[in-house]
Amino acid sequence: MIKVKGLNHSYKKDGKYAVNNVNFEVAEGEIFGFLGPSGAGKSTTQNIMTGLLQLQEGEVTVAGYDVKHIKNEMFNQIGMSFEQSNVYSKMTAKENLDFYRKLFDVETREPQDLLDLVGLGDKGNIRAGEFSKGMKHRLTFARSMINNPTLWFLDEPTTGLDPSIAADIKDIIRRENKKGVTVFLTTHNMYIADELCDRVAFIVDGDIKLIDSPKNLKLQYGEQLVEVEYIKDGDVVKESFSTIKTEDKNQLKDIIDKYEIQTMHTKEATLEEIFIKVTGRGLK
Ligand SMILES: Nc1ncnc2c1ncn2[C@@H]1O[C@H](COP(=O)(O)OP(=O)(O)O)[C@@H](O)[C@H]1O
Ligand SMILES: [Mg+2]
Repeated sequence: MIKVKGLNHSYKKDGKYAVNNVNFEVAEGEIFGFLGPSGAGKSTTQNIMTGLLQLQEGEVTVAGYDVKHIKNEMFNQIGMSFEQSNVYSKMTAKENLDFYRKLFDVETREPQDLLDLVGLGDKGNIRAGEFSKGMKHRLTFARSMINNPTLWFLDEPTTGLDPSIAADIKDIIRRENKKGVTVFLTTHNMYIADELCDRVAFIVDGDIKLIDSPKNLKLQYGEQLVEVEYIKDGDVVKESFSTIKTEDKNQLKDIIDKYEIQTMHTKEATLEEIFIKVTGRGLK
């Protein structure tokens, strides 16, 4: 569904690259995640794939279209939801969707159905300008589905939403994916990446460090850890040890021998811990 080869992008063409030799492929039916901290180059990559930014260097094919020479028909097939909502403030929610659906040459979904889906069913006649940030975000998200896209680009789809709405959005993404929609999702939120993605790419400073499924990553990097809290010189110290590495096991034995243990339990490594291990960076 997506092929990206040797992608580079420099905003100021000053030798500094926001995206640096990025390569990946997304198969039909996948939920593919771009996971990385703010400024990693996630939105830049998505914007090049969706034609918002001119391709500078590399080969990018999206839903069978070469983005070097974008054809309008590509937009019939893709859906895009942005980090920053860009709905028309003077139009009502419903007018926004009515306006947008006319831009497509394919069958579109009923605005009211989409508003119902994202929990804005009774807000259709309110001007988008009066919406809260989260409501605008939901409207942008609803709008991105209006043309029944086969390939759906979602940039930080749950950022800034309250947890129950974020859960609804996740359910919608899952459901659409089950219907066969391929999803390209960018996020700095490891929970959504872990819950939704078949495969994730770890991206830092415009560089993909690794691509794999969350499950494989946990098997590969997420060795069993024991988290111990013990009292040392009157203070509580919290440390984690591998239950596989000899050095860690010895340290753990030492601690058990020497100090008073407060709590001790095993825990599976989170995607964020694996991210830090692989990239040396956090996800903030
Ligand atoms: N319009 C722009 N002009 C100049 N630099 C930009 C622009 N947009 C993003 N950047 C820079 O490119 C890098 C990648 O940004 P971005 O793709 O938005 O990252 P992410 O989506 O992962 O947070 C950052 O260093 C950011 O400051
Ligand atoms: Mg971004």
